[in-house]
Amino acid sequence: MGIDTAKMIGDFPILNTTRNGKRLVYLDSAATSQKPIQVIEKVSDYYKGYNANIHRGVYEISIKATEEYIRSKELAAKFINAESYRNIVYTRNTTESINLIALSWAGRKLRGGDGVLLTEMEHHSNIVPWQMLKERKNTVLDYIALDAKKQLLDMEDFEMKLEAKPKIVSVTAASNVLGTINDVEKICRMAHDAGALVVVDGAQSVPHMPVDVKRMDCDFMAFSSHKMLGPAGIGVLYGKEELLEEMEPLLGGGDMIRSVSFESCTYNELPWKFESGTSNIEGGIGFGAAIEYLDNVGMQNVNGHEKELASYALRKLKDAGATVYGPSAEQIEHRIGVISFKVPGAHPHDVAQIFDSEGIAIRAGHHCAMPLVNQVLNEDSVSRMSFYIYNKKEDVDVAVDALAKVKKVLKLH
Ligand code: ALA
Repeated sequence: MGIDTAKMIGDFPILNTTRNGKRLVYLDSAATSQKPIQVIEKVSDYYKGYNANIHRGVYEISIKATEEYIRSKELAAKFINAESYRNIVYTRNTTESINLIALSWAGRKLRGGDGVLLTEMEHHSNIVPWQMLKERKNTVLDYIALDAKKQLLDMEDFEMKLEAKPKIVSVTAASNVLGTINDVEKICRMAHDAGALVVVDGAQSVPHMPVDVKRMDCDFMAFSSHKMLGPAGIGVLYGKEELLEEMEPLLGGGDMIRSVSFESCTYNELPWKFESGTSNIEGGIGFGAAIEYLDNVGMQNVNGHEKELASYALRKLKDAGATVYGPSAEQIEHRIGVISFKVPGAHPHDVAQIFDSEGIAIRAGHHCAMPLVNQVLNEDSVSRMSFYIYNKKEDVDVAVDALAKVKKVLKLH
């Protein structure tokens, strides 16, 4: 069963709007996804029907809010095949989840000289926290190289860098610039054999493909609700239970404790010991509705649909003379629906602006991956289109047609 985009678009109010009389063509889901009415209504129902704090009230609406919040964690756990909602810590976003590991796990366990191994294709959220750790603890940072020809991770380089026995390997499951999918299962196996823990940045994988943390055997994984149809301000830190038990909370305060005296405190059970203060309750509840929506579509269908769009777009962009980054259409199994490209002679920001005049939303810049874009691709910036369940082939056609306007406006003929 594929995806009936015409039916699906009906669920997304914003996709039924126009810009300058033109249909909004949204091709920036790698930055944030659009939200279906089911999510919007779930958040609105909470405000209208049972707005109350969680874990605190014995009255009906507080109990209902608590149940819905926990239910969203149960849905998130099932979605990635985690053992239980105890493995699901809510943060603000992927960035905060990775910072929590870098500060709380690595910050306490790692010593000067201990290694952290990343890849050259990481988002800033999986680089800067480790650079900050390096500043504080004098840890050693290294990067697995990109195989420039295949635009895939160089696994031989990885094998070689494991010889230095890093304590942590932290990798993205899918690049937000290249679209490259990394073989995280293999990476976990190899890293574990070398004695390292593995952190997976799942920001661009969990929304777009079936993910099974048990099968992958990662130690921690981070991802964000807003990139998978849910509200912003809710991120997930998944962790193996024994690691989360061992990990110290980062922030102290209400809700994360079991008992407090003037002298000391004991911490709450998982996952609450990491969630101090009042949580983003509406965000969590809305996230649950987003997961239910994706579950109904089926993640195999999501993945298949995006691969089809990506193959189509890669071919059309190439035919239109654009320079495209990431694995080729022939290697589509290694790609998500993210395509960075350049129009020779045009600045990516000009391209994005001309696209905008046609009602098409794409992103241009370094995509929060400056080391990759500047030092590996040797570019200042690139344009990027990214797909989700609500995109259709006509969106690609409209975008490729807009390339003709770019060439005309910028007199590139
Ligand atoms: N990480 C998001 C992106 O790639 C913001 O656009």
